[in-house]
Amino acid sequence: MARTRLLAGNWKMHKTRAEAVEFAEKLAQLSSDISDDAVIGYPELLICATFTALPGLMEPLQKSNTRLGAQNMHEADHGAYTGEVSAAMIKELGCTYVILGHSERRMYFAESDAAVAKKTLVALDHQLTPIVCVGESLEERENGETSTRIAAQVGAVLDALKDKQDGAERLVIAYEPIWAIGTGRTASKEDAEVVARAIREQVKEKLGDHVASAVRILYGGSVKPENIADFLSEADIDGSLVGGASLEAESFFRMAHNSTL
Ligand code: PGA
Repeated sequence: MARTRLLAGNWKMHKTRAEAVEFAEKLAQLSSDISDDAVIGYPELLICATFTALPGLMEPLQKSNTRLGAQNMHEADHGAYTGEVSAAMIKELGCTYVILGHSERRMYFAESDAAVAKKTLVALDHQLTPIVCVGESLEERENGETSTRIAAQVGAVLDALKDKQDGAERLVIAYEPIWAIGTGRTASKEDAEVVARAIREQVKEKLGDHVASAVRILYGGSVKPENIADFLSEADIDGSLVGGASLEAESFFRMAHNSTL
C-alpha cells in the first residue's frame, strides 16, 4: 500500500503565538512559488505547536496546506486535572494530530507506556491522528536492548488497540532514539530501518496485514534538510518528526522539498 509521507515539526516549548503566525506566513510565502505539478508527491506537512500558539494558527498554516497538531493531551474528556488539556479542546482549535509519549514527556513528566497507550486510544476515538514516540536511551542501545525496549513501548499501544474495530490504521509511530534528539547525532539510515521494519512486523502480528501496511513510521532525531532524504530512502520509513530544524520556515520548507517522492 502506498503511504503518504509525513513531515511533522515538533516545536517543543518554542515560539510565542506571534512568532508562530510569523512562521506560518513565511511558509505560505515560500510555498506560493511552487507549481501545482511540483506539489504532487509532496509529503503531508504538519506543525505541532505549543498549546498557547494553537489558537489562530490553523488559518495561516492552511495557506501552505500544513496541518496543525498538539504535543500532548490528557486522556480524560474533562475533570479535575489542573494544567491539562483534553482531546476535544485541541480539536476545537483545528488540530488533527497529537504527539504522544515523546521521550521528553516520558523523562520529565513520568509518562508510562500504559498512559501513552491509553491516550492513543482516546486520540483515535476523537478522530485525532496520534504520533506515538518510541525510542531507546544510549545505555539501552549499548547494552543491546534496543529491540526489547522498542517492542515494549510499541506493544503497550498495540495491546490497547487490539479490540479496536477501525481507526488503528491511522496510527503513526515515530522512532526517535533518545541519544539522537537535539544532539546532532543520528542513527544510521540502516539502523533506523531495522527498527522501523521490526515495528511494522510487530503491528502485523498484533493487528494484521491491513493495519501494518497502512501505519506510518517516522524517524526522528537530528533530522535536517541535508539528511532527511537518506532516511526516506528506506522502505519502512514514511516520514520524519523534526525538532530543531522545524523552527525556521526556510529549513522546514527545504525538508518538505527534500521529502518529495
Ligand atoms: P531534534 O528533535 O530534531 O531537534 O533532534 C526531534 C524530536 O525531539 O522530536
